[in-house]
Amino acid sequence: MTVPVLETENLVKIYGRGETRFDALKGINLEIGKGESLAIVGKSGSGKSTLMHLLALLDGPTHGVVALEGRPTNDLSAKELNELRNSAFGFVFQQFFLTPGQTVLENVTLPLKIAGVPAAERKRRGLAALEQLEMGDKAQNKATDLSGGQKQRVVIARALINDPSVIFADEPTGNLDSATSRVVEDILFGLNRDKGITLVVVTHDEDLARRCSRQIHLVDGRIVPEAEKAAGGVVVPGPAAADDAAQAPAAQAAGTPWDGAPEAAPREDTGGLTVKEPRTGAIVMLSEADVAEIARAAQQPPRTGKHSASPSTPEQPGATA
Ligand SMILES: Nc1ncnc2c1ncn2[C@@H]1O[C@H](COP(=O)(O)OP(=O)(O)OP(=O)(O)O)[C@@H](O)[C@H]1O
Ligand SMILES: [Mg+2]
Repeated sequence: MTVPVLETENLVKIYGRGETRFDALKGINLEIGKGESLAIVGKSGSGKSTLMHLLALLDGPTHGVVALEGRPTNDLSAKELNELRNSAFGFVFQQFFLTPGQTVLENVTLPLKIAGVPAAERKRRGLAALEQLEMGDKAQNKATDLSGGQKQRVVIARALINDPSVIFADEPTGNLDSATSRVVEDILFGLNRDKGITLVVVTHDEDLARRCSRQIHLVDGRIVPEAEKAAGGVVVPGPAAADDAAQAPAAQAAGTPWDGAPEAAPREDTGGLTVKEPRTGAIVMLSEADVAEIARAAQQPPRTGKHSASPSTPEQPGATA
């Protein structure tokens, strides 16, 4: 069997501590195969975005492992994670605002700029991506001077500019009318079909979920079988709840690729293309100036001692102790 593009083992995410503790994910075992299109569905607050952020390496788990192409990611540095995200992932999130002062082309080619691709090639690839989405004539527009559906197409152009292996989409059509939604969906599934890009989509839209090759249902931070979802999401405690066909059989078997890997450590998600703002949970894109500043900071010798843990992950137990 080929190695799944993404694989999780017993993924747990706990926000806060003490009285404010909230267990958002309670042990997720999941395998996502190359070229799959996976819908993550569930009620508001069930943990969909949290799971997506962990899969996309935007945030670290409290316990458990996310492996990319068979390689556990727990012990990667912030810089390695940023490079990995920038090269392997594309993001179609509503929170990903386009940078208003910049042109459509500049917005689309930002991941290439961060990756150090020369200007002429950036322009060539940027225009090609925009053409693919029938947005070539808007390349020099300011990103703000576009309709909602056009902005979403620019976000998709930016998501595919780096030939990602996975595109993560969180409610990609949430703010769009049904005709525009259909266009955006067709583009995403076209990329999946024609380029083999794996799609991971969080959605409340049942039609969109049905178009995916597989759906997983989250209830209170757990993956539940279809029948339980239909019965109102009553989760049977114990192994039965974890025995969903959607979950990874291999992850329960002995000899997972990350046997012996360390528990998740607090993660410094402080740079690169995309980061999760720890207080609000918003996903922000960093400008090149931000990235350069972070790169400079990364040249500084590592801090040691009790304040060395990342201030960006205060919700993780032990992060700032
Ligand atoms: N930074 C945070 N601090 C504390 N609790 C959080 C944080 N982020 C999310 N949560 C809580 O974790 C739970 C899961 O949140 P998540 O955003 O994953 O839900 P969701 O399934 O994506 O919901 P929606 O459909 O409304 O987007 C919610 O109860 C939420 O309040
Ligand atoms: Mg969400």
